[in-house]
Amino acid sequence: MADKRTERKKLTTKTLITMKKNGEKIACLTAYDFLMARYLEEAGIDVVLVGDSLGNVVQGNPTTITVTLDEMIYHAKIVKKSIRNALLVVDLPFMSYHVDLKEAVRNCGRVMKETGCDAVKLEGGERIAEVVKHLVKVGIPVMGHLGLTPQSINIFGTYVTRGTDPKEAKQIQKDAKILEEAGCFAVVLEKIPAELAKKVTTSIKIPTIGIGAGINCDGQILVTHDMLGMTEMFRPRFVRRYMDLATEAKDAFRKYIKDVKDKKFPGKGESY
Ligand code: KIV
Repeated sequence: MADKRTERKKLTTKTLITMKKNGEKIACLTAYDFLMARYLEEAGIDVVLVGDSLGNVVQGNPTTITVTLDEMIYHAKIVKKSIRNALLVVDLPFMSYHVDLKEAVRNCGRVMKETGCDAVKLEGGERIAEVVKHLVKVGIPVMGHLGLTPQSINIFGTYVTRGTDPKEAKQIQKDAKILEEAGCFAVVLEKIPAELAKKVTTSIKIPTIGIGAGINCDGQILVTHDMLGMTEMFRPRFVRRYMDLATEAKDAFRKYIKDVKDKKFPGKGESY
């Protein structure tokens, strides 16, 4: 039987731009390990993001601020083992592209060389435009990230919807244009009003990938642990749960524990 992972073509940053042109929606999800990445690849996902959300859902931290570059590289390397055709994007963590251009290029270069990913993602608009230009100049494709940018949570002070006041909405629109001009191939729009996301989407040629940004974005992304129902306590309205894995896993664990206690596992067929 043919390996399902080789049945489709490798997606590139240019494919995403063509998909936008053709009106084909872009489906993206996050992965942090080999097996989850394999399931995503076999299901036919377009983009796999190794998000710094691993700080929340893998490491159990309250924010993404504490995630290190080495941790991102560790997870991206093991995800990469499962990726054949999806576009693999890796988040640059907080403070790994902020000090100066040299350090930003060096850190993004490390991510590209050590993980074999296709692109990096950085948070911010105007203030990171020079970094984006430099990265693109040396051959590193960049996905932008606007709206609710979790690395700025200590400035925002809250995870509420961004861009609800006209001034911030204008800045988000301006930032999207700046990122496009700086050379980004796509931009994530997180937790902004659907109408604003629509305006941004129609004003730029590069695709917008929404998370809590409505139906008019060119693509959608969710944290995989959220859409699988693994993060029980986290229930924002933008997350659609496609299964209740937390409940199913706990049911399975309870059954296993009972089987062990009742001396029903292992059976003869499970023994040598
Ligand atoms: O870190 C992450 O997973 C992200 C996505 C939610 C867009 O940035």
